Amino acid sequence: MVKRSLAGLDVAGKRVLVRVDFNVPIDQGPLELGTEALASYDHRLRATLPTIRYLLERDCRVILCSHLGRPAGEVVEQLRLGHVGGRLAELLEQPVQTLTDCVGGAVQASVAGMAPGQVVLLENLRFHPGEEGNDSNFAESLAALADCFVMDAFGVAHRAHASTVGLPKHLPSATGLLVEREVEALGQALEAPERPLAALLGGAKVADKIHVLENLLGRLDRLFIGGGMAVTFLRAQGHGTGASNVEENLLEFANEILAQAKDRDLPVYLPQDLVVASRFDADPPGMETVPVGEVPDGWYIMDIGAATARQFCEGLRDCRTIIWNGPMGVFEMPRFSQGTRTVAEAIAAMNGVTSVVGGGSTAEAVEELGLMDGMTHVSTGGGASLEFLEGKELPGIAALPDA
Ligand code: 3PG
Repeated sequence: MVKRSLAGLDVAGKRVLVRVDFNVPIDQGPLELGTEALASYDHRLRATLPTIRYLLERDCRVILCSHLGRPAGEVVEQLRLGHVGGRLAELLEQPVQTLTDCVGGAVQASVAGMAPGQVVLLENLRFHPGEEGNDSNFAESLAALADCFVMDAFGVAHRAHASTVGLPKHLPSATGLLVEREVEALGQALEAPERPLAALLGGAKVADKIHVLENLLGRLDRLFIGGGMAVTFLRAQGHGTGASNVEENLLEFANEILAQAKDRDLPVYLPQDLVVASRFDADPPGMETVPVGEVPDGWYIMDIGAATARQFCEGLRDCRTIIWNGPMGVFEMPRFSQGTRTVAEAIAAMNGVTSVVGGGSTAEAVEELGLMDGMTHVSTGGGASLEFLEGKELPGIAALPDA
């Protein structure tokens, strides 16, 4: 169902509450390092600029709200949005006033004092239990700040929280430009892709991708499996996998996927060679590349090997649509980032391909490699993009009025 877009909402001169997802990758320490370091991880901030600018051009008072991390209903000093507001101000090239709460008298007073064209960022919504509890009083207090609501937080659209599903009950609402772009890009890749369509799946676990595999299998022309999830597939094929984590309970599922792919004549690319380490460590005492099936006892599979990376790139070369979700190895350890780097560079260099990259760790890898501009669409949603690819309805989008 098509949802009401920003163009269908009367926003001119109004106080507009915008739900954004400024949940930046805090595990990499940008908050401790401050606004400057955030510049390397600001994909989610940049992605909301079109909506914010659209509203500023229409003399709106823009009230942004977001969560950061999982403070579980309590104030956690490290999870304040101050640095995020600082980085946003740099990107917008105008001041952003960051408040120290998101509801209450002081917030109401600050918002009442806003002039047209001003931007305020409310404090972390998850400092209040009402946010994740989808409490209607909390949603009402937020709604009281504004005349209308724009949902632009694709990354959290899979959560039924007060600021996602609650707010549209209280205010005239619409999708923001980012949500619209995400739904279009991911929806097109699923429903009407230019063919051949490939899925390149990686990341730590098969468990995270079960429903994605189930939903994609019948649509694909080629399937590539790397990363930690390849371990379980290799074991299912009878290969030794050293000390790497095998999802024993999913061996049958892996075999079933391989059997279904065979029935459908769907080529499945699995690693032919592997980078292995004697310890699961960024700087292990032993590290080598071995053919599949020759992983030494007690060693760990850390990345796809160079021959596999070349073979994957070769197989992707004539694809017209690529859905990529999950790094090819332990990307966060530089010595095991080569497989991800090689395929990312190859995809970014391809002409005439639509490349749709899932959010979360894949987006972080592409961002870190400086290849964002080479991809057609890099989703801002980790869990949300996975659920979308699983074919699930996202509650934060379902809650919005139809067009
Ligand atoms: C994300 O980073 O995937 C979103 O911001 C959602 O965060 P959550 O998993 O803590 O709800």
